[in-house]
Amino acid sequence: MKKIGILTGGGDAPGLNAVIRAAVKTAINVYGCQVLGIKNGYDGFLDEDGIIPLGLADVRGILPRGGTILGAANRGNPYARKIIRDGKESVIDVSDEIVKAIRNLELDALLVIGGDGTLRIAHELAQKGARVIGVPKTIDNDIGGTEITFGFDTALNIATDALDRLHTTAESHHRVMVLELMGRDAGFIALQAGISGGADVILIPEIPFKFESVMAKIHQRDNEGGKFSILAVSEGAKPEGGAQLFARQGDEVFVPRLGGIGQAVAEYIEKQGFESRVTVLGHLQRGGTPTSFDRSLATRYGAAAVRLAARGGYDRMVALQGGTITDIPLAEALAVPKRVKLTDDAVVTARNVGVSFGDE
Ligand code: F6P
Repeated sequence: MKKIGILTGGGDAPGLNAVIRAAVKTAINVYGCQVLGIKNGYDGFLDEDGIIPLGLADVRGILPRGGTILGAANRGNPYARKIIRDGKESVIDVSDEIVKAIRNLELDALLVIGGDGTLRIAHELAQKGARVIGVPKTIDNDIGGTEITFGFDTALNIATDALDRLHTTAESHHRVMVLELMGRDAGFIALQAGISGGADVILIPEIPFKFESVMAKIHQRDNEGGKFSILAVSEGAKPEGGAQLFARQGDEVFVPRLGGIGQAVAEYIEKQGFESRVTVLGHLQRGGTPTSFDRSLATRYGAAAVRLAARGGYDRMVALQGGTITDIPLAEALAVPKRVKLTDDAVVTARNVGVSFGDE
């Protein structure tokens, strides 16, 4: 193995730099291999100055840093790239150019650090001959075949801290506080942070809710002397028979942006006579320094991805199973997105301790 490339795609997640650092160190220290960084996701292959050498000095001090030194792009889909030619806007497929660029650079492997969108593209590029290896990243924790993605633990800690802070102000003012959390179509952040932060109601996409059931919980607390309530609401949660709310619809290039359900829930509660406020935690969940857990997991993933490259394990993804790092085909990781199951211990436990999911 002489030369590998690394790119970070999709939304950023705490721990990206830790993966890059571990991959660069392992590649150089163990295999004496050259490393190239591809800037801004797949776009870097097409942009002038989009490719940079990565040496040991370049990754010094980045372990605790949030974001990614390589830049990321949420719209960097080579199969739908927006271009302006002769003043006209159009969307074209540049995937063949990317595969050609990988070949021209003589990369023995391209490490793709990304969520489901970025990894799906990697898998499709692999069908065209690109030697890709996936590293599962996302605060949403929604990638199949791995117990956990890096970034998730940091997001959980930030969300839990927010719930703790909302508790004290909710209690002082006898209010209902709604915290809208990220996660797209997976409710892991709201579920786990809701448990850790003592939420009274947790609304997640996997369990459609009834407004009346949410109110029943608030009334029950009120009757029992709990003059405030805390709700952890996934951005993808939806009422029974209703639809998810979007802040922006998607198109060929943009993925749809969820948002607004927290506000809708808070408005409903207020109309029922309970003073209510909403906080949308947003990108704070992705920013800043990764937790110790995420730094360690990201480092393990980064080193394992390089070892996998050395074994020629292309079109595969490093994964955590039973607490051990392993690797699985990308196709398997992408076949079924990971979602909260009603039978999950976390859901059962939450119900045991009195949390309402708004479904009963
Ligand atoms: O997938 C990570 C994530 O943070 C989701 O939880 C959220 O819905 C989305 O990305 C937000 O994307 P953007 O940064 O493009 O607004």
